[in-house]
Amino acid sequence: YVIGVDLGTSAVKTLLIGQDGNLKGEATREYPLYHEKAGWSEQDPEDWVTGTTEALKELIVNSGIPSADIEGISFSGQMHGLVLLDENDKPVRRAILWNDTRTTKQCREIERTLGDKLLTVTRNPALEGFTLPKILWVKQNEPETFAKASHFLLPKDYLRLRLTGAKHMDLSDAAGTLMLDVAAASWSSEVLSAFEIPASFCPPLVEAGAYAGNVTPDVSESTGISLSAKVFAGGADNACGAIGAGILSPGLTLCSIGTSGVVLTYEADASADYEGKVHFFNHGKTNSFYAMGVTLAAGYSLSWFRNTFAKGESFDAMLEGVGDIPAGSNGLLFTPYIVGERTPHPDSKIRGSFIGIDGSHTRAHFARAVMEGITFSLNESIAIFRAAGKTINTIVSIGGGAKNPLWLQMQADIFRADVVALENEQGPGLGAAMLAAVGSGWFPSLDACGEIFVKHARIYRPNEAVSVQYEQLFRIYQQTYNQTAGIN
Ligand code: XUL
Repeated sequence: YVIGVDLGTSAVKTLLIGQDGNLKGEATREYPLYHEKAGWSEQDPEDWVTGTTEALKELIVNSGIPSADIEGISFSGQMHGLVLLDENDKPVRRAILWNDTRTTKQCREIERTLGDKLLTVTRNPALEGFTLPKILWVKQNEPETFAKASHFLLPKDYLRLRLTGAKHMDLSDAAGTLMLDVAAASWSSEVLSAFEIPASFCPPLVEAGAYAGNVTPDVSESTGISLSAKVFAGGADNACGAIGAGILSPGLTLCSIGTSGVVLTYEADASADYEGKVHFFNHGKTNSFYAMGVTLAAGYSLSWFRNTFAKGESFDAMLEGVGDIPAGSNGLLFTPYIVGERTPHPDSKIRGSFIGIDGSHTRAHFARAVMEGITFSLNESIAIFRAAGKTINTIVSIGGGAKNPLWLQMQADIFRADVVALENEQGPGLGAAMLAAVGSGWFPSLDACGEIFVKHARIYRPNEAVSVQYEQLFRIYQQTYNQTAGIN
């Protein structure tokens, strides 16, 4: 067996996977988010360690298998979160997370300081969620705390440090710091020196599949993981989501609708140029990359809608009547900018809207419009890829958005592509387990592992007439950003 640990934003999810790629058990622990001020989002790294330890223990006890049968363990992690450590590896403050937007000023400073280098070296725009602006924020706003920090890690790297005692960062996660030379796969001395960050501040870089050590005796005792189980570095959640969905060769595209939503395409090398309109990161598969557009409030928009207008109802109950509402929600249109947006509008201040409200609209119309608006936002990323010459005919869909057949058909109709749903889809945790399976010697490559582990269940094909109708609405959707940009 292998274990995949997905260190998410609301919870850690651990999966026990057998050699056939099937799920043999899972255990989850939630932990709090702290929003002390508007736009702030923090977590206590200790909660990740406690939650993971408890979940691993439960996973192993409930499975009833001898712990010696667990050969490997690896990780998928929420990206970009800043964990600042002192010289004894103790966090000097809470972690500042990817969905924290306090760093607009630092982003402008990074753009001014790096100029063209920002895109040519880091391959990404300066966005509030990324790590470098967070480092600068702490340096400028909490100098006493910053003075105690001697190095930094990302969330899953901190977790791995606590489990094994070894300090590393994998390339797919390091790519989201804005300090990595993405094509060269090394820390950028130009970026580090521009912001007076010593090289010793950055941990050693490894591949996502690299062997990173074994659990410490204490961790072995508290979790039941044997001392002989190998721990592999793991990768960014989006890279692991891509691995777990088999996005491992050219021509494959992923759509993931979780709290945030992403569309990502496999890139065999670093030559593609999307002019910084989408993110460009190192993949968890060696020497490959992916380009990615992000919708900040994807599933979150639907959760907000439920909590506000259907409190106490399950998603299924809330969405019951939605299938009877025609495509286009009878003219009701939603933009999902309720916590700002990333792609194609890197704007943390924009806010969402419902437009075209008619006296005949019911709650089901509004619910459908929310689903359509989220999908339109993801389609903006697909439009960027297509405009750059990428062919997108088949999209593997994962996450909450892939659990609902109506939404899968909507994705096919709006994306104008075949949308593949997976059997027993397990998200990024499966990608992490695949890194451990390959590392443990079960397969010669991630591709070979994907052939066994990633199982296609059903293909949803676009309906031409509906696609044409959505295309017209999409054009109006695209104009809504400019029309509403000055609203607050
Ligand atoms: C990616 C991003 C999010 C987080 C979610 O750039 O910020 O998808 O990785 O965990």
